[in-house]
Amino acid sequence: MENSGKLSTVKFYSGDVTPLEMHKVRVVQKLNLLPIEERKEAIYGAGFNTFLLMNKDVFLDMLTDSGTNAMSDNQVAAMSVADDSYAGSASYTKLEAAILEVFNQNYFLPVHQGRAAEHIISKTFCRPGSVVPMNYHFTTTKAHIEMAGSAVEEIYTDEALKIKSDFPFKGNMDINKLHKVIEKWGAENVAYIRFEAGTNLIGGQPFSMANLREVSAIAKAHNIMLLMDTSLINENLYFIKIREEGYLDMPIKDILHEMMSYTDFSYFSGRKVSCTRGGGICTNNHDIYMKMRDWVPLFEGFLTYGGMSVREIEAMAVGLIETLDFNVISHSPTFIKYLVDALDSKGIPVITPAGGLGCHLDAGQFIAHVPQTQYPAGALAAALFIASGIRGMERGTISSVRDENGDDVLADVELLRLAFPRRVFTLSQIKYAEDRIQWLFDNRHLIGGLEWVEEPPVLRFFVGKLQPIGDWVDKLVAKFRQDFGDSL
Ligand code: F0G
Repeated sequence: MENSGKLSTVKFYSGDVTPLEMHKVRVVQKLNLLPIEERKEAIYGAGFNTFLLMNKDVFLDMLTDSGTNAMSDNQVAAMSVADDSYAGSASYTKLEAAILEVFNQNYFLPVHQGRAAEHIISKTFCRPGSVVPMNYHFTTTKAHIEMAGSAVEEIYTDEALKIKSDFPFKGNMDINKLHKVIEKWGAENVAYIRFEAGTNLIGGQPFSMANLREVSAIAKAHNIMLLMDTSLINENLYFIKIREEGYLDMPIKDILHEMMSYTDFSYFSGRKVSCTRGGGICTNNHDIYMKMRDWVPLFEGFLTYGGMSVREIEAMAVGLIETLDFNVISHSPTFIKYLVDALDSKGIPVITPAGGLGCHLDAGQFIAHVPQTQYPAGALAAALFIASGIRGMERGTISSVRDENGDDVLADVELLRLAFPRRVFTLSQIKYAEDRIQWLFDNRHLIGGLEWVEEPPVLRFFVGKLQPIGDWVDKLVAKFRQDFGDSL
């Protein structure tokens, strides 16, 4: 395992900047690429909502990296020696040891996935009249905090929501805004400050160690707890190492331990960080641990499994330790950068600089002729599926809500997220994505908007159904056939 702190990257003699897989593929799963006419049928069947597509109809599943990452051979092997027991499982002891080694945290509460940790944390520390300042929200995080009665204040920097930027740490908090929020609410009403690593909804963007250090000092001065969501810590670590002064030669473990030293507690979704399922809450503070501990057997399962299978627990312990390997954590961001830079160089609107998690197309610019009330990000997600069989995720106004008058609360940005599950896709598959996105961009005038057919009152993006406005889908399919002949 590359763990020394030295960068282990490969330069090409030709000077090409080509990401290189530092693993080999030993188990494969067959993919289907349906003809475009059948892709069209599938998206109609799914109500133009990519969440409702069946995986058998999908070629590259870029919906999410959640629970879809490739495990290593060592993780799969560990699953076969799991210790099945309700209480006191030896598998759990291994996980606790891994938590200590990787995060340098002594106390651990296992849960069935990230949002379950959010549930327990919000239930314990949030109440009406209190606030949680954060760099940016995640959907389930905000829902849990608000359900417990607290408010959310996002204190991101001015750069955070700019689509095109070369700011290396768009996930930073704005320190002035933090001071103002503390002043406005009173330090005693700040439940905790939440820092999300690899900030998901603004494009998988990292924060810097310097910013974390500064926020931590302010939190301590006001006696406020600092919570870190480490679900996307892999890529945040990678970016601190390669982008922040002073960290290039530092081992990943030391960088992570420094990060954790600024927090009071943290939680993660194992569906992301350890390429498994499950999740957990970590702390070195016994009081914080005790306040939450008794909710775990009630909502999740006994304290030595927390809703996870022992097999997942074994795989999680190995997966967390593999996070300390530079080759493991650099894979996803280098592949994402490849696609982002390729699209950006062709003038196709994507979030820059490339982050972790995925490539985010700016549907607002891509199909600027589609008004926000006709859901450009959703329309682009459907159009890309029709054109390529690639399933992305709408992160725009469909993922938003309606106000008290029944009008759409328009999203800050209309994004189509193409997630990169870790170690799953090859470079030629990414080149295929690039090719079909280019074709779609050249034919973007053909793409139209969407309207609701069935709109659920909560979290409508998950199961809501829409339809195209006008006959743009038929025109898109006809143009595809004209340009590609009988190609898939
Ligand atoms: N925090 C972050 C930063 C996340 O990205 C997620 C999930 C969660 C918490 C919740 O974890 O799914 O295990 O309950 N993100 C997934 C996604 C769903 O597709 O981005 P979970």
